[in-house]
Amino acid sequence: MTEAILLVGGMGTRLRPLTVHTPKPMLPVAGVPFLEHQLTRAREAGVDHVVLATSYRAEVFEEYFGDGSRIGIELEYVTEDEPLGTGGAIRNVADRLRSGADEPVLVFNGDILSGLDIAGLVRRHLRAGADVTLHLTRVEDPRAFGLVPTDDTGRVTAFLEKPERAEDIVTDQINAGCYVFRRSVIDAIPAGQVVSVERQTFPGLLASGAYLQGVVDETYWLDLGKPAAFVRGSCDLVLGKVDSPALPGPTGEALVLPGAQVEPGAELSGGTVVGAGARVAAGAVVEGSVLFDGAVVEGGAVVRASVIGREAVVGPRCVVDDAVVGDGAQLGEGNELRAGVRVWCDVKLPDCAVRFSSDQ
Ligand code: GTP
Repeated sequence: MTEAILLVGGMGTRLRPLTVHTPKPMLPVAGVPFLEHQLTRAREAGVDHVVLATSYRAEVFEEYFGDGSRIGIELEYVTEDEPLGTGGAIRNVADRLRSGADEPVLVFNGDILSGLDIAGLVRRHLRAGADVTLHLTRVEDPRAFGLVPTDDTGRVTAFLEKPERAEDIVTDQINAGCYVFRRSVIDAIPAGQVVSVERQTFPGLLASGAYLQGVVDETYWLDLGKPAAFVRGSCDLVLGKVDSPALPGPTGEALVLPGAQVEPGAELSGGTVVGAGARVAAGAVVEGSVLFDGAVVEGGAVVRASVIGREAVVGPRCVVDDAVVGDGAQLGEGNELRAGVRVWCDVKLPDCAVRFSSDQ
């Protein structure tokens, strides 16, 4: 058995306004809070004790998961009054860990959806005798990421900031947000201060001669930190492109939660989720989107690659494409929202108030 730390204290600013009321790891993805997918995957890999490092909207986690017995993991919560950053948060939960000094402790970012073989990563860590083992993934365009090159034995050779020039792109390997730490390495992070594990702890360890191993795993990987990726991740779970023990229904073109109402003649596709108590009217088309609980899509509306917040209303004949509609917002008839637009919570748009095209 292994224990794990889950980092869930971030403010999730890039997903606003979805994160105004709900912390990012608790947003519904494929029908359950995202964290439930991560926790159940960890459980299947043999993790039996998880410490959640919370800060922003900390109370929401315990209200939902309690002591973890429902999902078969012992859960503990540690809250930072002021966010301590990723490294500070890991150090801050050290007194809840039960592992011995040389034993492995898993650490997960709370916003990564992946098909990683978690138990395999722990085995590789133990076999190598590394101080820290990092899951690395390859990306097509590494310019937006910190790069983690390794030598031919898998040893990390550098942590490089986002490359600005083509010649600085020395690898396509990036930090995938899941680590195995030797427990004593966690105890050595300075306590009670803001520390970034990516920018301070890892480069510092490397400079001091520690053995950091990178394991490249090319199964499914997605950082759900931005709206388009959030929608993609939810759809991919529903479509079965990545497995989760927490998916509350069969895979397919759509997941309709209990208590939702989909009228005959409404079209759902592309891994869409219709939340509990949500309603999709006859003649509406919803493709590859996430409708939170109680959301309403009226007749003749088209919703594509978008998130519709709790109890938000998309009026008749609206087009919502690659957009985010916050909780409780109401779009009057015939609005046209595209190209990354975000409508804030509880905003009311009159009929035909926002158009993207010039025709009415
Ligand atoms: P943005 O504000 O949109 O960048 O999102 P974020 O706040 O979640 O930050 P980021 O995606 O960089 O964080 C990666 C992971 O670390 C997420 O799971 C966060 O919840 C978590 N995290 C970030 N900062 C802190 C912190 O200060 N404390 C704790 N406990 N967790 C953190």
